[in-house]
Amino acid sequence: MSVHARGSRPRIAVAGATGRVGAALVARLAEDPVDVVALSRSPVSEKLPEGTQMIQVDFDAPATLSTALRGIDRLFVAHGTSDRQVENEIAMIDAAVQAGVSHIVKLSAMGPPTRLHPFDWHMRIEAHLAQCDVGYTVLRPSCFVDVLARAQAPVAADAWGGTAEDGLVNLIDTRDVADVARVALLDGEFVDAQRAYHLTGPFPVSMPGIAEELTRLLGRQVGYTRRTREEHRRVLLSYGVSEMVADLLLGLDRIFREGVLSETTVTVPELTGKEARSPGDWLRDHRSDFGQAS
Ligand SMILES: NC(=O)c1ccc[n+]([C@@H]2O[C@H](COP(=O)([O-])OP(=O)(O)OC[C@H]3O[C@@H](n4cnc5c(N)ncnc54)[C@H](OP(=O)(O)O)[C@@H]3O)[C@@H](O)[C@H]2O)c1
Repeated sequence: MSVHARGSRPRIAVAGATGRVGAALVARLAEDPVDVVALSRSPVSEKLPEGTQMIQVDFDAPATLSTALRGIDRLFVAHGTSDRQVENEIAMIDAAVQAGVSHIVKLSAMGPPTRLHPFDWHMRIEAHLAQCDVGYTVLRPSCFVDVLARAQAPVAADAWGGTAEDGLVNLIDTRDVADVARVALLDGEFVDAQRAYHLTGPFPVSMPGIAEELTRLLGRQVGYTRRTREEHRRVLLSYGVSEMVADLLLGLDRIFREGVLSETTVTVPELTGKEARSPGDWLRDHRSDFGQAS
């Protein structure tokens, strides 16, 4: 595995480096013979390893994107969920193509064509990327297992529930997404390829199944209450989330209920050479955040 470098060490820019996938990716690339540049709206970040080179970008000032991408060989793009996502990612992609970046790895999402956010946003960005004269790898992960962090406070308060019923979803660990992104960024064989990978965990789970796993791990009974859409929306808003986030979470529950993201792919083990992490691994790592056994 090698990157065709123009100079001595290849330069890889990571946009979204302070985020979940981006921070894990930067940590892994620190072990590789490449120079990593983190692109961020902030000048500094505690989420990145000490010594990481950071360049501040401002999506409202496109010149900052062009300047930041000068001399970059490969670009990883992740963008936090936002109604600015489409215009910001497209601006970043355009600046990269103009700067002569040879391969872009874009974090997208697995799922069918749909009107639901953020899937429709990713479809628009992917369609734009497809028109660009550049090699790319689109990563389409299923739902991140971190979604279960939203269950921590409700589980601790014995009030976890939603509208997912017994639907199955294959949750993926963001560390596996970062591992695949690293492989795609370092691949020197198919730099001009335009490809997409569907990334999942090792098997699908249901929310009542997660409650059973938590019951075993925490040593106390954990349940998942079935709610109607209206009940759950009221509960979500009472937690203080915005209307947009409440709708995104209701959309996710619907996707779980309908089994839309239940398929299992072998892309993670095939590309990384390691088994995909399971939701049980994640729950064990975070069990103390779900409240103590009574
Ligand atoms: N959550 C899931 O289950 C799931 C599943 C599949 C795909 N995805 C996709 O994965 C992507 C998110 O990945 P992630 O969780 O690694 O990212 P994240 O942690 O939510 O955010 C990544 C970075 O995006 C940057 N950003 C730039 N403009 C932003 C804005 N207007 N609002 C919020 N953040 C902004 C921030 O970096 P700076 O502040 O440093 O600029 C942030 O650290 C999304 O596109 C999502 O659709 C998510």
